[in-house]
Amino acid sequence: MIRVGILGATGTVGQRFLQLLERHPDFVVSAVAASDRSEEKPYVEACQWRLPGDFPESVRALRVRPCEPPLDCDVVFSSLPSAVARDVEGRFAAAGYPVITNSSSFRMDADADVPLVIPEVNPEHLALIDRQRTKSGGYIVTNPNCSAVMVALALAPLHRRFGVTSVVVTTMQALSGAGYPGVPSLDATDNVIPYIAEEEAKIERETKKLLGTYADGAVRTADVAVSAQCHRVNVTDGHLGAFRVKLERRATLAELRDAWATFRGLPQQLELPSAPTHPIVVRDEPDRPQPRLDRDAGNGMSVSVGRVAPDTVLDWRFVALSHNTIRGAAGAAILNAELLLAQGRLLQPPRAVERAPARG
Ligand SMILES: NC(=O)c1ccc[n+]([C@@H]2O[C@H](COP(=O)([O-])OP(=O)(O)OC[C@H]3O[C@@H](n4cnc5c(N)ncnc54)[C@H](OP(=O)(O)O)[C@@H]3O)[C@@H](O)[C@H]2O)c1
Repeated sequence: MIRVGILGATGTVGQRFLQLLERHPDFVVSAVAASDRSEEKPYVEACQWRLPGDFPESVRALRVRPCEPPLDCDVVFSSLPSAVARDVEGRFAAAGYPVITNSSSFRMDADADVPLVIPEVNPEHLALIDRQRTKSGGYIVTNPNCSAVMVALALAPLHRRFGVTSVVVTTMQALSGAGYPGVPSLDATDNVIPYIAEEEAKIERETKKLLGTYADGAVRTADVAVSAQCHRVNVTDGHLGAFRVKLERRATLAELRDAWATFRGLPQQLELPSAPTHPIVVRDEPDRPQPRLDRDAGNGMSVSVGRVAPDTVLDWRFVALSHNTIRGAAGAAILNAELLLAQGRLLQPPRAVERAPARG
């Protein structure tokens, strides 16, 4: 088993990591780390468990460590706030750890050669790791913003088959996307908030990088115009997007439907443990997808698409939905790690890391 350390383990995404890893065939959580508020407490005391189901038995007694190397693990999964993530993750990579992160700090940093990856969409971008690998063997891989995952996955089958030239997306994003405690209840109840800091720019930038091509050691961003407007809505989990797209080549509704329904990627070929059978689930009912009914499709790893129709301004319109803390965060990082493991990139010597002694 590969021993995993979770940075930000007490938070919204951190808890999702622990839930998803509890019975993982290849990864076992050997270390948890968080802020000095939680430091040295047993995890069960430091963390107020907020997910359905029981507290994961295997991590109850782990002591919460500071977010500093060395940590008693082989790989680090990070769900730290971006304000602290950059320095901390950089230190772990320099100390020899593969770092797989949800944070935005390195996603668009061309100088750092950090890949931004959805395994079904752009696994070839992982080649950037070889340019960044430190002397100690450490590196950083990022997964996208929780809405950008949904946007890029929904667009990838269309882009491959017909070419997407422009997309306009309006998101309705769940409260859990803001972490815990997130949006105050008096702001969220009976309300829609038409502002999520930096979200629109993240979707616009990251989608182009994710749909871009990798050649000669660099990512060339896709030539797609992306316009995003983001809203926080009173839903616990599940980000919904209303899309309008313009395509390079004409397509029929049946062809669009087929492009989504038959879309598969490397995770499906390799049968990675967290890979959904259908990365995109097409719903034909007139009132789907809906967050409460569809966010758990494919164990939270499938994007659901529906309401597909010709558009009077651009070519086509549709609605897409994905689970923001699973496909949009912890599940995305775990799938990246599973692919890295399958490619033999996860545990490569040399690992000149002095390990912390395992403590209770
Ligand atoms: N929520 C989502 O849907 C989502 C989706 C994609 C990406 N993300 C990204 O994932 C990251 C975590 O988000 P979240 O929603 O899980 O946030 P959260 O619920 O606020 O949790 C933050 C975690 O980071 C720890 N932390 C805070 N300040 C720290 C510091 N100075 N040093 C060390 N640890 C610190 C907290 O520990 P304590 O408990 O000890 O304070 C907690 O474990 C963010 O970068 C976010 O943008 C979130």
